[in-house]
Amino acid sequence: MRDHRILLTLVFLKIVNNCYVDSRPLTFIEQQVQLCINQDVKRQPVIIDTDTDVDDLWAIHYLLNVPTVDVLAITTVGNGYSKPFYSGSNILTFLDLIGCSNGIGVGYGVNLPLMSSGYIIPSSLLNAIDSYMTAATCLNQSVNIFLQPSPFGAIELIKLSLKYSKIPVDILILGTMTNLATAISEDRSIISKIGSVYFSGGQFKSINSYPSLVPNVTLPNYPDSEENSDGSPNAYLDMLAVQRVGMSGIKNIVAMPLIIQNTMPINLTQLNETLKRLNIQLKPFVLNFISSFVKCTSPNQTTIYLK
Ligand SMILES: *[C@@H]1O[C@H](CO)[C@@H](O)[C@H](O)[C@H]1NC(C)=O
Ligand SMILES: *[C@@H]1O[C@H](CO)[C@@H](O)[C@H](O)[C@H]1NC(C)=O
Ligand SMILES: *[C@@H]1O[C@H](CO)[C@@H](O)[C@H](O)[C@H]1NC(C)=O
Ligand SMILES: *[C@@H]1O[C@H](CO)[C@@H](O)[C@H](O)[C@H]1NC(C)=O
Ligand SMILES: *[C@@H]1O[C@H](CO)[C@@H](O)[C@H](O)[C@H]1NC(C)=O
Repeated sequence: MRDHRILLTLVFLKIVNNCYVDSRPLTFIEQQVQLCINQDVKRQPVIIDTDTDVDDLWAIHYLLNVPTVDVLAITTVGNGYSKPFYSGSNILTFLDLIGCSNGIGVGYGVNLPLMSSGYIIPSSLLNAIDSYMTAATCLNQSVNIFLQPSPFGAIELIKLSLKYSKIPVDILILGTMTNLATAISEDRSIISKIGSVYFSGGQFKSINSYPSLVPNVTLPNYPDSEENSDGSPNAYLDMLAVQRVGMSGIKNIVAMPLIIQNTMPINLTQLNETLKRLNIQLKPFVLNFISSFVKCTSPNQTTIYLK
């Protein structure tokens, strides 16, 4: 019993020693994050911020397997290509199905844009994405209802992970920029800890041209008219967030224009050939996951390609 107390005292002292920053004590929440980060600085730390669209889940699966990358946290945003009800929980389900549900914090984020262009994602597409893993007509997987997100929300997780990372952190934004814009607005001191921001689907023009990235919502074929816009929905679903992040002083912002994404059509034959050439054997679930996109989201099977 006595030894037990000594041990507890030592543990307490050890914790207290790490418990001050700028000569003020850390709050309880800050201590929790500091203890959890346990960072391997030989790897590039990355925060993945996602709207939980299916291609984001491919990207997350890939990055979790890159040995030079350390995924510090996954944060979800509910105003993009999945409904708020699914954007967080489907990340947990996916991580569970690929065997990665332990050791990576998932923080639930913001569900409304700072300022929308008025663009509305077709609900048939949203429903197909939300039910991609569980629909009997798609992957027919069951959900483990005991999976839990991080006790921290996305904004806290972004701010605290940046604050306590020993080296600058790269941020991948695969949906809208709402979470990062919110985190920056609340604590601008995190900007110096951001390495590069990678933004999926950005078509960057000069800052004054943001409105020209927005599709014409009065066109008769709206929302299909988004295809004729220079911008990506990830930008115009929250233009103000793009502006806030774009003008925040972050040194490196890398954006992939749609025109580049569109040079990468791949159909199932090409997918099979690529896997064979690279001698990659995917688990059946993963192969099914990446090859079912057209089957599960397209109204008909005429467009047999994956982007
Ligand atoms: C879906 O999975 C359930 C069991 O989990 C099974 O009974 C059912 O037949 C499956 N449906 C399809 C269409 O594969
Ligand atoms: C949007 O489309 C409508 C209908 O074609 C047209 O009248 C309007 O001028 C367009 N607006 C812009 C900003 O291009
Ligand atoms: C797949 O794409 C390749 C290259 O564009 C094309 O040659 C081939 O016909 C396609 N196959 C099918 C089944 O669509
Ligand atoms: C691709 O490979 C999978 C599994 O090896 C097979 O089931 C599928 O039919 C193949 N698809 C095409 C288009 O070759
Ligand atoms: C399939 O869907 C596409 C896109 O919605 C449409 O343009 C095409 O006409 C459809 N084809 C058939 C055979 O229904």
